[in-house]
Amino acid sequence: MALLEILKYPDPRLRIKAQPVTRIDDDLRRIVDDMYETMYASHGVGLAGTQVNIHQQIFTMDVSENHDQRVCVLNPEIISKEGIQYEAEGCLSVGGGAYDKVERALKVRLRGMDLDGKTFELDAEGLMAVCIQHEIDHLNGVLFIDHLSRLKLERIRKKIEKSERRE
Ligand code: NI
Repeated sequence: MALLEILKYPDPRLRIKAQPVTRIDDDLRRIVDDMYETMYASHGVGLAGTQVNIHQQIFTMDVSENHDQRVCVLNPEIISKEGIQYEAEGCLSVGGGAYDKVERALKVRLRGMDLDGKTFELDAEGLMAVCIQHEIDHLNGVLFIDHLSRLKLERIRKKIEKSERRE
């Protein structure tokens, strides 16, 4: 296993739309293992392929405290949504300690494929629902900060610039 480099905003590769997975092979399984390792090492609850410069529709997620609820989804799609929530989100690809509230559906039903090529559905709410929506956004080249007002985005940009100067 290996740690993957996480692309950081404003890297233009974060804007590439991921392609559907058409083949599940050892290479793909290795990528997924590396994504879990990278996600846990970075203390993230989710990681999309796009963030590690792999432009296939894949994301990994684990919202548990003990890192024992791994979910890997290939070709994810949200097939229904319900309600609204506003939770503070951050992102491993957005530096400067940027966190902000984003409007998301409270509950989602996700359809995707697992690593055995089987289609499954998953009902999620709360943090897991936020995570699913956030990761699917990544696969479409969208970042959580794209949902914020211009004023908030400006504030975040300045914070990122400041933190980069310190490095
Ligand atoms: Ni993210």
